[in-house]
Formats: sequence, structure tokens, C-alpha cells
Amino acid sequence: MRTEAEKEYLIRAIDALDREMIVVSPDHHILATNRFTAKKRGKDIIGSTCYDIYFEFSTPCDDCPACRVLHNGKPILRHSSKSLLESERVSCFPIYSEEASSSEYPLAAPIIDALLMVDFDLPRIGKLEEQLRRSNAFLKNMLNSAVDGILAADRKGKIFIFNQSAAEVSGYSIEEALETLYIQDVYPDRCAWDIMKKLRSDEYGGKGKLKEYHVDVLGKHGERIPISLYASIIYEGGQEVGSFGFFHDLRIRLQLKKELESAQIQLLQNEKMASLGKLAAGVAHQLNNPLGGIMLYSRLIQEEYELGEPAKDDLSRILRDAERCRDTVKELLVFSRQTRQEKQLHDINKALSRTLFLLEKQVLFQNILIETRLSADIPLVLGDIQQLNHVFMNVILNAAQAMDGRGKLIISTNLSPDGEKVIVEVSDTGPGISEDVLPHVFEPFYTTKEEGKGTGLGLSLAYGIVESHQGRIVAKNSPDQGSVFVIELPINPS
Ligand SMILES: Nc1ncnc2c1ncn2[C@@H]1O[C@H](COP(=O)(O)OP(=O)(O)O)[C@@H](O)[C@H]1O
Ligand SMILES: [Mg+2]
Repeated sequence: MRTEAEKEYLIRAIDALDREMIVVSPDHHILATNRFTAKKRGKDIIGSTCYDIYFEFSTPCDDCPACRVLHNGKPILRHSSKSLLESERVSCFPIYSEEASSSEYPLAAPIIDALLMVDFDLPRIGKLEEQLRRSNAFLKNMLNSAVDGILAADRKGKIFIFNQSAAEVSGYSIEEALETLYIQDVYPDRCAWDIMKKLRSDEYGGKGKLKEYHVDVLGKHGERIPISLYASIIYEGGQEVGSFGFFHDLRIRLQLKKELESAQIQLLQNEKMASLGKLAAGVAHQLNNPLGGIMLYSRLIQEEYELGEPAKDDLSRILRDAERCRDTVKELLVFSRQTRQEKQLHDINKALSRTLFLLEKQVLFQNILIETRLSADIPLVLGDIQQLNHVFMNVILNAAQAMDGRGKLIISTNLSPDGEKVIVEVSDTGPGISEDVLPHVFEPFYTTKEEGKGTGLGLSLAYGIVESHQGRIVAKNSPDQGSVFVIELPINPS
């Protein structure tokens, strides 16, 4: 039992509170108020209903906190709808009858005599909460707008931060990752342990830190994705509580690196071809005069001296070989000739038909089936037709030689999908080009043919001509059988 003095202090304490406080009966009549409420609302509110005083309603509010407390007996702390006491933060407590709490009826259900409604909306808390909510939303937004993947895991490895970029790289949805994923699942093999080990040592960017570490992560479907990782251990009071990392997808960078490397190789190849070409031209010039001398004096000996049969035979052999040398030198000179190109508009289909017409009659082509698939839709190409004929002739001749005079030759023309190039394809049913030969076929003097049959200059000449037309010539193996030479010629080279 409280003493009168205690009761007195309690009432004074309640009156000292500068928040609205009312006691209502279960049927919503106001039974008592503190001084602050009486001052604000007027003394005569006692006996009226709360819904009438506060809202001028004739029935209780829809979302009445008092009704809810009456229904389930539990206090409501900070009811948040805009309702009673004009506040968004009303708390409501049940006041039980004295008898129910006495020991005489221990099993009786407690009876709610009245309800205490208090306006505890402390504006500062509201503001702080709003700030917290905003900075949380900002943080979430920032994580999800980051270009890099960001993830954090607790001490057991359970992931609790997983941003949008991490989801895009890995293929997991954010929800999926947060619900099911452990850091161990993100890395293949025992990489996660390895990373933790490195993090704990101070050799990789300081203790608790790991900088620019290249490793693979596992995508949702088991694919390995190369990344560059920056990670750190999260400490709390000196204790490890988790780890945090952000990573950059390296796939595009690695792809670019590969392309750059192959462009460099191509550049080197062009350089090699050009210098070999110059060398060849120099050698050809040097050889031309002595060769002329050999042939001239051999013929003179033949004509002016009475020679016996064996000497005559030897001399013819000298002449025959010298002629072969001269042919090679001639080809070399064509190859290296720096003549001005005569570029005009030409019909590539016609040029191919003419080349075929010349070749068809040769013995080598007697048993070769020639199929032409020339597109009627290709435009004229600006080029030096003598040189282009030379290219077609060389490639077709090579195909016939590769098939050893027996097989099928297909020659097609098409317009490239972008409409800017004419594509000529020459394919044969020969043995194809082996992997070790393929990288060298365009090099000057590279031949796999036996001595006397090949000079190794045909394709290098073709390469130089196509290059000077800003085109491309590529050799590959057909998936079925034989090889395919693809020649791309821009319609309008600059
Ligand atoms: N259609 C083809 N099928 C198989 N190999 C080929 C084909 N065309 C060219 N080659 C290979 O490329 C090499 C170089 O060709 P090329 O420069 O014309 O010189 P050559 O014909 O004098 O040997 C040939 O020796 C051959 O090994
Ligand atoms: Mg050849």
C-alpha cells in the first residue's frame, strides 16, 4: 500500500510531465488527465469520449490503440498511425483491476479497468530515426550503384552484404546470396582460406588487408570469373568479426589484353613480311645481272663451239637451271616492284571468271570440278585489276596443286554484312593446311613443295597486294575437308 505522501508525489510527478496523458475507460470515456492535458484541452473533457474530444467522431477510431490493448491485453508502445492525441507516437497501457491481481483469484483472467494513453513522441528521437533511415537508404543506394562488386561476411563466412554488381558478375540474385551464400562458396577450391591467411599476414598490404589480389570467383553455374580483389578484415574491439571486400571483374580487361597481344603479333608479322620483301628485292637485283651473264655465255658456248654430247647435255642443264633462277628472280621483282597502282572500278565476278577461263584449260585442272557461286549483288570494287588477277590466280593454282589435280574447287563471292566489302572465298578438297604450316603460308619463300615446284612467293605476293587494297587475306581449314582462302576487298579503299 502506498502512503498518502507517496500518492501525492506520484500525482505531482505525473503533472510535471509535459506530454499529454489520459486515462480512458474500456468504453472510451476519459476518466482522468494530467495537468498538461487539462491545460491544453480544458478541464471539462472528463466524462467525454476520447474519439469525440480528439477527432469529433461519433464512434471509436478505425485503428483505435485502446481497442487493440483491450483485445489482446498487451501494451502498445508507440502506436504509429496518426490518431489519438494528434501524435504519431502514442503508447497505450492496460490498467488492470485491483481484484484480478490479488491472490484470492489466481486463475481468473485479468480484467482491464482502464487504459493509459501517453503521447511519448519525443521529436528528437523521431528526427534521429529519420536521419538513420535516410543514411541507411543512402548507404544501400551507394552499395548498389558501385561499379565494383562489394561483399561482406561474418566470422562464420555467412554473407550479409552483396551488392548489385556482385550479383551481376556472379549470376546470383542479391536475395539468393544473402539467404544462402557463404564466402567459401564464392571462391573455388580452398581459395577463401587462402585469402583469409593472406589477410591475417602483413605481407600483402598490411595486417588485415589484401590489395589487388588476382583470383577467380565461382559464378552461380560453376564458371570461373577472374577478378581483382581488395579485401580487409573487420575488427571490433580488437576481435575479428568479419571480412569485407570489393572486386573488379577482369574479363573485359583480359580480353582487351589478348586482343592487344594479337594485334602486336600481327604488326610484327607485317613488319617481318615488309622487311623480307625488301631483302628479296635487293637479292633479286643483285642476281639479275650475273644470271643474265650465265645465260648469255652458256648460249654463246652452245652456238660457237663444237662440243661433244656430254658437254652439250651439261650445258643445257646449266641453261635450264639458270632459266629457273631467272623465273624466280622475275617473280621476286614483281613482288617487290614499287609501281604505282592503277586503281579503277572493276567487276570481281568477271575477273574471277576470266582467271578461271585461263586456268581451266590447263592439264592440272582436267579432273577438277569447278563450282562457282558468284553473287549478282556485289558492287564494283576500286582496285588494280592486274594485281587482283594475280592474287586470284595464285590462290586458285595453289588449291589445284594441293588437290593434286583431283577434287572440287568452290569459288564464291558475297557482299559483307556491313555492305562495305566484297568477300571472295576459294575452297578446295585437298589435305588442308597443318597447324605448323598455317602461320607461315604468307611468308616469302615459305613453301612445302618440293624443289623446283614452289617458290614460296605466290601467297606473300597475294598478301602484299591485298594489303595495298586495304583488304585482308586469311587462310583456314575447312571444317569438312581441305582449306579455304578468304579475301576481303573493301569496295572503296582510300
Ligand atoms: N590450298 C592450299 N592447301 C594446302 N596448302 C596450301 C594451299 N595453298 C597454299 N598452301 C601452302 O602454302 C605454302 C605457300 O604457298 P605459296 O606462297 O603459294 O608458295 P608455293 O605455292 O610456291 O609453295 C604452300 O607451299 C603450301 O604448303
Ligand atoms: Mg603458290
